Amino acid sequence: MEEAYESSKRPGTMYEAIGGAEAIDKIVNGLYKRIGSHPDLIPIFPEDLTETAKKQRYFLTQFFGGPKLYNAYRGQPMLRRRHLPFEITPTRKDAWLSCLAGALEEADIAEPYRSAIFEKLTMTAHHMMNTPE
Ligand code: HEM
Repeated sequence: MEEAYESSKRPGTMYEAIGGAEAIDKIVNGLYKRIGSHPDLIPIFPEDLTETAKKQRYFLTQFFGGPKLYNAYRGQPMLRRRHLPFEITPTRKDAWLSCLAGALEEADIAEPYRSAIFEKLTMTAHHMMNTPE
Protein backbone atom coordinates (compact mmCIF):
# COMPACT_ATOMS: atom_id res chain seq x y z
CA MET A 1 0.00 0.00 0.00
CA GLU A 2 2.95 2.30 0.44
CA GLU A 3 3.30 2.80 -3.29
CA ALA A 4 -0.42 3.43 -3.63
CA TYR A 5 -0.28 6.00 -0.88
CA GLU A 6 2.59 7.80 -2.59
CA SER A 7 0.78 7.91 -5.92
CA SER A 8 -2.27 9.40 -4.18
CA LYS A 9 -0.13 12.36 -3.25
CA ARG A 10 1.15 12.92 -6.78
CA PRO A 11 0.33 16.51 -7.65
CA GLY A 12 -1.45 17.51 -10.82
CA THR A 13 -3.87 14.60 -11.08
CA MET A 14 -7.59 14.98 -11.64
CA TYR A 15 -8.03 12.87 -8.51
CA GLU A 16 -6.22 15.42 -6.42
CA ALA A 17 -7.73 18.46 -8.17
CA ILE A 18 -11.33 17.48 -7.36
CA GLY A 19 -10.60 16.58 -3.74
CA GLY A 20 -9.49 12.92 -3.72
CA ALA A 21 -11.38 10.07 -2.09
CA GLU A 22 -14.14 12.23 -0.68
CA ALA A 23 -15.09 13.60 -4.11
CA ILE A 24 -14.93 10.16 -5.76
CA ASP A 25 -17.22 8.78 -3.02
CA LYS A 26 -19.78 11.48 -3.63
CA ILE A 27 -19.75 10.94 -7.40
CA VAL A 28 -20.09 7.16 -7.08
CA ASN A 29 -22.87 7.37 -4.48
CA GLY A 30 -24.83 9.77 -6.67
CA LEU A 31 -24.20 7.65 -9.77
CA TYR A 32 -25.52 4.38 -8.34
CA LYS A 33 -28.43 6.06 -6.57
CA ARG A 34 -29.55 7.16 -10.04
CA ILE A 35 -28.66 3.93 -11.84
CA GLY A 36 -30.68 1.96 -9.25
CA SER A 37 -33.84 3.85 -10.12
CA HIS A 38 -33.38 4.35 -13.86
CA PRO A 39 -35.92 2.29 -15.85
CA ASP A 40 -33.48 1.66 -18.74
CA LEU A 41 -30.70 0.47 -16.44
CA ILE A 42 -32.48 -1.53 -13.70
CA PRO A 43 -32.86 -4.63 -15.93
CA ILE A 44 -29.10 -5.19 -16.34
CA PHE A 45 -27.80 -4.20 -12.89
CA PRO A 46 -27.92 -6.34 -9.75
CA GLU A 47 -30.52 -5.33 -7.17
CA ASP A 48 -27.85 -4.76 -4.55
CA LEU A 49 -25.41 -2.26 -5.99
CA THR A 50 -22.99 -2.24 -3.06
CA GLU A 51 -20.28 -4.34 -4.71
CA THR A 52 -20.75 -2.70 -8.11
CA ALA A 53 -20.34 0.74 -6.56
CA LYS A 54 -17.22 -0.38 -4.72
CA LYS A 55 -15.58 -1.57 -7.95
CA GLN A 56 -16.51 1.70 -9.63
CA ARG A 57 -15.05 3.66 -6.73
CA TYR A 58 -11.82 1.73 -7.10
CA PHE A 59 -11.84 2.16 -10.87
CA LEU A 60 -12.50 5.91 -10.92
CA THR A 61 -9.89 6.44 -8.21
CA GLN A 62 -7.17 5.00 -10.40
CA PHE A 63 -8.61 6.30 -13.68
CA PHE A 64 -8.23 9.84 -12.39
CA GLY A 65 -4.71 9.35 -11.12
CA GLY A 66 -5.21 8.19 -7.55
CA PRO A 67 -4.03 4.92 -5.97
CA LYS A 68 -4.33 1.86 -8.20
CA LEU A 69 -7.12 0.33 -6.15
CA TYR A 70 -8.95 -1.38 -9.00
CA ASN A 71 -5.89 -3.22 -10.25
CA ALA A 72 -5.16 -4.40 -6.72
CA TYR A 73 -8.72 -5.69 -6.30
CA ARG A 74 -9.64 -6.97 -9.76
CA GLY A 75 -6.55 -6.96 -11.99
CA GLN A 76 -6.47 -5.26 -15.39
CA PRO A 77 -9.71 -3.33 -15.97
CA MET A 78 -10.51 -4.71 -19.49
CA LEU A 79 -13.77 -2.84 -19.08
CA ARG A 80 -15.22 -3.48 -22.51
CA ARG A 81 -14.75 -7.21 -22.00
CA ARG A 82 -16.28 -7.08 -18.52
CA HIS A 83 -19.35 -5.36 -19.97
CA LEU A 84 -19.93 -7.90 -22.77
CA PRO A 85 -22.36 -10.04 -20.72
CA PHE A 86 -24.72 -7.04 -20.57
CA GLU A 87 -26.63 -5.57 -23.51
CA ILE A 88 -25.37 -2.01 -23.65
CA THR A 89 -27.41 -0.18 -26.26
CA PRO A 90 -27.13 3.50 -27.25
CA THR A 91 -30.18 4.18 -25.04
CA ARG A 92 -28.49 2.58 -22.04
CA LYS A 93 -25.28 4.48 -22.76
CA ASP A 94 -27.25 7.75 -22.75
CA ALA A 95 -29.04 6.71 -19.55
CA TRP A 96 -25.74 5.93 -17.81
CA LEU A 97 -24.33 9.30 -18.88
CA SER A 98 -27.42 11.15 -17.64
CA CYS A 99 -26.92 9.45 -14.25
CA LEU A 100 -23.30 10.58 -14.31
CA ALA A 101 -24.25 14.17 -15.15
CA GLY A 102 -26.65 14.26 -12.20
CA ALA A 103 -24.05 12.76 -9.89
CA LEU A 104 -21.39 15.31 -10.91
CA GLU A 105 -23.85 18.11 -10.27
CA GLU A 106 -24.93 16.75 -6.91
CA ALA A 107 -21.30 16.23 -5.85
CA ASP A 108 -20.74 19.87 -6.78
CA ILE A 109 -17.61 19.14 -8.81
CA ALA A 110 -16.22 22.49 -10.01
CA GLU A 111 -15.46 23.48 -13.57
CA PRO A 112 -13.35 22.86 -15.57
CA TYR A 113 -13.08 19.44 -13.88
CA ARG A 114 -16.75 18.60 -14.15
CA SER A 115 -16.78 18.95 -17.94
CA ALA A 116 -13.41 17.23 -18.29
CA ILE A 117 -14.64 14.22 -16.31
CA PHE A 118 -17.89 14.08 -18.26
CA GLU A 119 -16.08 14.22 -21.60
CA LYS A 120 -13.59 11.55 -20.65
CA LEU A 121 -16.27 9.18 -19.35
CA THR A 122 -18.44 9.87 -22.39
CA MET A 123 -15.65 8.35 -24.47
CA THR A 124 -15.40 5.37 -22.13
CA ALA A 125 -19.18 4.91 -22.22
CA HIS A 126 -19.13 4.87 -26.05
CA HIS A 127 -16.51 2.18 -25.88
CA MET A 128 -18.81 0.02 -23.69
CA MET A 129 -21.67 -0.11 -26.23
CA ASN A 130 -22.00 -3.62 -27.60
CA THR A 131 -25.62 -3.98 -28.79
CA PRO A 132 -27.74 -2.05 -31.31
CA GLU A 133 -31.21 -0.87 -30.20
C1 HEM B 1 -22.30 2.89 -21.11
C2 HEM B 1 -23.16 2.56 -20.16
C3 HEM B 1 -22.82 1.54 -19.10
C4 HEM B 1 -23.61 0.56 -18.67
C5 HEM B 1 -25.04 0.31 -19.13
C6 HEM B 1 -22.88 -0.21 -17.69
C7 HEM B 1 -23.34 -1.33 -17.04
C8 HEM B 1 -22.62 -2.10 -16.17
C9 HEM B 1 -23.07 -3.33 -15.58
C10 HEM B 1 -24.43 -3.98 -15.84
C11 HEM B 1 -22.10 -3.79 -14.78
C12 HEM B 1 -22.12 -5.09 -13.94
C13 HEM B 1 -22.59 -4.78 -12.56
C14 HEM B 1 -22.34 -5.94 -11.63
O1 HEM B 1 -22.66 -7.09 -11.97
O2 HEM B 1 -21.81 -5.69 -10.53
C15 HEM B 1 -21.01 -2.85 -14.84
C16 HEM B 1 -19.84 -2.98 -14.15
C17 HEM B 1 -18.86 -2.04 -14.16
N1 HEM B 1 -18.84 -0.88 -14.89
FE1 HEM B 1 -20.22 -0.29 -16.20
N2 HEM B 1 -21.64 0.35 -17.52
C18 HEM B 1 -21.56 1.42 -18.37
C19 HEM B 1 -20.49 2.27 -18.48
C20 HEM B 1 -19.39 2.24 -17.69
C21 HEM B 1 -18.33 3.21 -17.73
C22 HEM B 1 -18.29 4.43 -18.65
C23 HEM B 1 -17.42 2.83 -16.80
C24 HEM B 1 -16.13 3.50 -16.43
C25 HEM B 1 -16.10 4.71 -15.99
C26 HEM B 1 -17.91 1.64 -16.17
C27 HEM B 1 -17.28 0.97 -15.15
C28 HEM B 1 -17.68 -0.22 -14.61
C29 HEM B 1 -16.91 -0.97 -13.65
C30 HEM B 1 -15.57 -0.58 -13.07
C31 HEM B 1 -17.64 -2.12 -13.38
C32 HEM B 1 -17.21 -3.29 -12.46
C33 HEM B 1 -16.39 -4.27 -13.32
C34 HEM B 1 -15.92 -5.44 -12.50
O3 HEM B 1 -14.85 -5.34 -11.91
O4 HEM B 1 -16.61 -6.46 -12.47
N3 HEM B 1 -19.12 1.31 -16.73
N4 HEM B 1 -21.36 -1.84 -15.70
